[in-house]
Formats: sequence, structure tokens, C-alpha cells
Amino acid sequence: MELTGKIALVTGSTAGIAAETARLLAAAGAEVVVSGRSAERGAATVRTITDQGGLARFVAADLSDLDSLHHLAAEAGAVDILVNNAAIFPGAPTVAQDVASFDASLATNIRAPYFLTAALAPAMVAKGSGSIVNVSTMAAKVGMPGLSVYSATKAALESLTRTWAAEFSPAGVRVNTVAPGPTRTEMVLAAMGEEGAQQVAKTTLLGRLATPREIAEVIFFLATDRAGYLTGATIAADAGRTAA
Ligand SMILES: NC(=O)c1ccc[n+]([C@@H]2O[C@H](COP(=O)([O-])OP(=O)(O)OC[C@H]3O[C@@H](n4cnc5c(N)ncnc54)[C@H](OP(=O)(O)O)[C@@H]3O)[C@@H](O)[C@H]2O)c1
Repeated sequence: MELTGKIALVTGSTAGIAAETARLLAAAGAEVVVSGRSAERGAATVRTITDQGGLARFVAADLSDLDSLHHLAAEAGAVDILVNNAAIFPGAPTVAQDVASFDASLATNIRAPYFLTAALAPAMVAKGSGSIVNVSTMAAKVGMPGLSVYSATKAALESLTRTWAAEFSPAGVRVNTVAPGPTRTEMVLAAMGEEGAQQVAKTTLLGRLATPREIAEVIFFLATDRAGYLTGATIAADAGRTAA
């Protein structure tokens, strides 16, 4: 199989887009390290993989905590694929933004992928191959009221994608971003409800929400050698929302 012998760490794969990504990577033969804070949901993701004959294990981590992050990096070991997906989405108008959720957003959405990549990229560089996929959002490109901090963390992640490509790609490690549009996941439904999600969906050219699988397919593509000539790129998987 395409990814036999490869190890993939997918952060935030206890739910949503990344749980689907973990399933796709495992179905292609990768051994997947599933991670998140919830052991219960982590076990559920692992079960959906192992029930299909795939390889997966769960490592609990709260990525807003650096000790927990370094424990995850040590447990994962030398990975071939890193998907920086875990994120939080505490929306608030700028004038009402509280400092605690501002700091939590920076810690989870930016500091975590930064130091996880710093911990795991050296083994990829030493091996001369590897793929890092960062998960951003269309809101990094278009101004959306109430999403200031979230959007800024993701715009920073897109910038890091370019820097990391410049730092690691000469050694054979590709680094890319997927920037999804509105996708039917817990995060979105909890934050905006069905009606709010449908309103955002209507602003896309296709007029609907993505399924988690549709976004996971793009992450999968970037993670594998199918995207062998892509690095430093941000792929908009947003039904045209940032195109027109
Ligand atoms: N859904 C959308 O419409 C949409 C649109 C654009 C971009 N995105 C991006 O796509 C990615 C996935 O979103 P989603 O909708 O699939 O989200 P989701 O269903 O809420 O899943 C988020 C995941 O992140 C994990 N997570 C959150 N905080 C964490 C922490 N401190 N430490 C470790 N794990 C943590 C959660 O796991 P635990 O709860 O187990 O910790 C969960 O597995 C995110 O980067 C998001 O910004 C989503």
C-alpha cells in the first residue's frame, strides 16, 4: 500500500476533519498516531481504524501545554507525516475579546504547531523526506467579524508554512497548508449552530458545507508523494469562497 511503513501523527484527530484524515492515512497503510485531549474520543477514532485492519494508537495530549506537547513528540517518535490540525475557535468581537481565550488561541493554534514541528522536523530532515500539512481556514484570507484572533493565528500558520518550506524543503521535507471553508464538524456546529453554519455555507460558490471527508482528501493528497512537487503552498478547499 502507498503508505506502508510510514508513521503519521495527526493532531486533534479525536474528532472532525482530522479523524477522517487519520482514517484515510491508515487505509493507505500508514501507522497513525491519533492525538487529542479526550481519551474516550481518541479510543473511538483508533477503533474505527483497527476495525478495518489499520494501524493506530492514541497518545493523549493537551497541546496548549508545552510539557504535554513534548511528551506527544517523544511518544510519536520519528514520524514521516505530521498534520498540524488541532485548533480552538473561541469567537468574539475584537472589542469584547477576553485575554484568556486570546492566549489559549495562540497557545493551541500557533505555539503548538510551531514547537511540535520544531521537535519533529529534525528527524524528517535527517531522513531526507517527510511531509508536514498545516490546517488553516478561509478566514485567514477574508475578514470575518468575530473571528479576529482565530483568523490571525491561522494567517500566522500560513506564514510559517512558507518559512518552514524554506527551512526544511532543501532537505526533502515538504510543508503545505490546507485552508478549508465551512465544514460540517462539531467545532462549527457548536460555535454557530446549524442555521449559522448554513448561512456561511451560502457565501461559498457551491453554496454548501464541506463534509469532513472532502477536506481530509486534500490533506491526504498533500501528505503523500502524490503532491511530490508541492511545498510552501496553501491550497484553498473552500468551495471558491476566497476566489470570488
Ligand atoms: N470545521 C470547519 O468549518 C473548519 C473550517 C476551516 C478550518 N477548520 C480547521 O480545521 C481543523 C479541524 O477543525 P474541525 O472542525 O475538525 O474541529 P473539531 O471537530 O472541533 O476538532 C478539533 C480537534 O482539535 C482538538 N483540540 C482542540 N484543542 C486541543 C488541545 N488543546 N490539545 C489537543 N487537541 C486539541 C480536539 O480534540 P480534543 O477535544 O480531544 O482535545 C479535536 O479533535 C482546525 O484547525 C480548524 O481551525 C475547520
